[in-house]
This record gives sequence, structure tokens and C-alpha cells, in this order.
Amino acid sequence: MQIFVDTADIEEIKEAKKWGIVDGVTTNPSLIKKAVEKLKSRGTEISMEEYIKEICKSVDGPVSLEVKGITAEEMIREAETLHKKFNGVNNNVVIKIPVNTAMQEEDEIFEGIKAVKQLESKGIPTNVTLVMNPTQALLAAKAGASYVSPFLGRIDDYIRDNLGIEHGKWDVFDGALLRKVEEGMRNADGDDGERYKKMASISFSDDGIYDGIEFVESIVKIYRAYNFKTKIIAASVRNVLQVRKVAEMGVDIATIPFKVIKEMINHPKTIEGMKKFTQDVVEEYRAIFEE
Ligand code: E4P
Repeated sequence: MQIFVDTADIEEIKEAKKWGIVDGVTTNPSLIKKAVEKLKSRGTEISMEEYIKEICKSVDGPVSLEVKGITAEEMIREAETLHKKFNGVNNNVVIKIPVNTAMQEEDEIFEGIKAVKQLESKGIPTNVTLVMNPTQALLAAKAGASYVSPFLGRIDDYIRDNLGIEHGKWDVFDGALLRKVEEGMRNADGDDGERYKKMASISFSDDGIYDGIEFVESIVKIYRAYNFKTKIIAASVRNVLQVRKVAEMGVDIATIPFKVIKEMINHPKTIEGMKKFTQDVVEEYRAIFEE
């Protein structure tokens, strides 16, 4: 599994690069905004273009940069601009295109897919973003996208919010448990059964998907069934458990926030073991290392 760092913060990118385990970077307008605000708060003067060039330079792997347009025409133009301005730096620019740019009823819904098809035919690699269900991922693959980014953390948020479950951004969510609870309530007699009937309007799942992990699993299954070449980037990753689960299912790439990559390396028993081994180094063993 490749690891991309999900940040536009150059310090984080450079630090993660030193660890030798980073294969690429994903950014989005929110991550760029956060990184730029951090720079400004420190009084650092750098143009946005120079900053993005720094990001491209600092990693020898794909760097996803997102367009801001709504129509296919706008997005294609912007993608070409991004590619022209930044791909020359390190030959690693991938263009993020939202799967569906519609924000209201009357908006066109296939603009993203149309843009992907055309950009890929021009040799500009795309990463289809804001993917929130497996059929969107199917359409992205049909359009020939190089990458697809299912947002698993945001699906966890969506299901929990619909059910009124309070949660923090980084909290673990167990959809398999939720499925069991729903089944139990559905099959219950008496008060529990009655309560479930009254809750009929509340959705326990997102069209039969109970959490972000199940969502990514479904895409893996579909892509394998048809041998699609589009690489799956598990995105909107919030915790180490999600990293383990997407790795187990053989996802191509996980794009992981800096904070979560750091959590992956920690375990209290490793710290305890280190302390004990360090204490137990006897004099004769220490002497072996002296030159
Ligand atoms: C990466 O491609 C996505 O933009 C990112 O993972 C979104 O993460 P978030 O849902 O935590 O904002």
C-alpha cells in the first residue's frame, strides 16, 4: 500500500519525507487555506505559486492539486493551467476533480465526469475527489480516472450525524456494530420492536453502507470484478484503525493526515520494551559497539 500525506503544510510534508515512507501528497482548497494561514500568522512571505512549487519539489511522487471550477469547461481549463504551471517542477502533478460539482437542484451533475474523461484523454492524470458512494467510484473508473478518492471519514460522520451520535473528528466508528444493533431492533418484539417501527424514517446506513470502511470495501470489490485500472486512494482517513482496515483489504493507497501517520508508529509496549532493553545493556555488550 502506498502512503500519501494528506496535507498542504510544507513542514509536515518535508518531515514525513525524511521518514522515507511517503509516496505522494494530496491537497485540497481547505488544506491549502490552513497551510497559508499558518504561514501568514508567522509573517512568512511567499506567493501561493512558489509555495505549491515547493510542495511539488519536496516529494518524488504524485501531488494532487484541486481545481475550483464548476463546469467541465472551467475545470479542464484550470487543470491545464495547474499542469502547465506546476508539472514542469517535478513531473508529478495530478489534478483533483470533484465527482459531481452540483450544489443545487438545477445544476449539471456530470461536469466532473466529463472533465475527467477529457483530461485523461489529453494525458493529464486525474484524482476524482469528494467520492461518497460506490456508484460514483464506478463512474469515475468508467471515465478513465487515474485515481479515485473515497472519503471514508466523512461517510462515518454522515451516518453518525443522521443518527444523532455525538462524535469528534478523529473518533473511531464501528459500522459493523451499528448493523448488528439495527438487526436486533428490527427483529425484536415488544417495546424494542415498536421503537424501531417509530424510527423508520431514521436511516441507520447510507444506502446499505454502515461505515466508511464498508464503503471502500465495496469499491475494491467493484474494481476487482471489472479489472479497472483506476487506483483507489482511501481518503478522509481519521484514525489508525481505518489505516489497518484499508491496508487489510488491499487498497492501493491511503492518504493519511500527518497526525495519524505519527500515531501509526506508536505503541505503549514498544516504549516499555525500549526502556527495558536500554536498561539491560550490560557493560560487555556496550563494549562491542566501541570502535
Ligand atoms: C484528500 O484527498 C481529501 O481531500 C481529504 O482526505 C479530506 O479529508 P477530511 O474529510 O478529513 O477533510
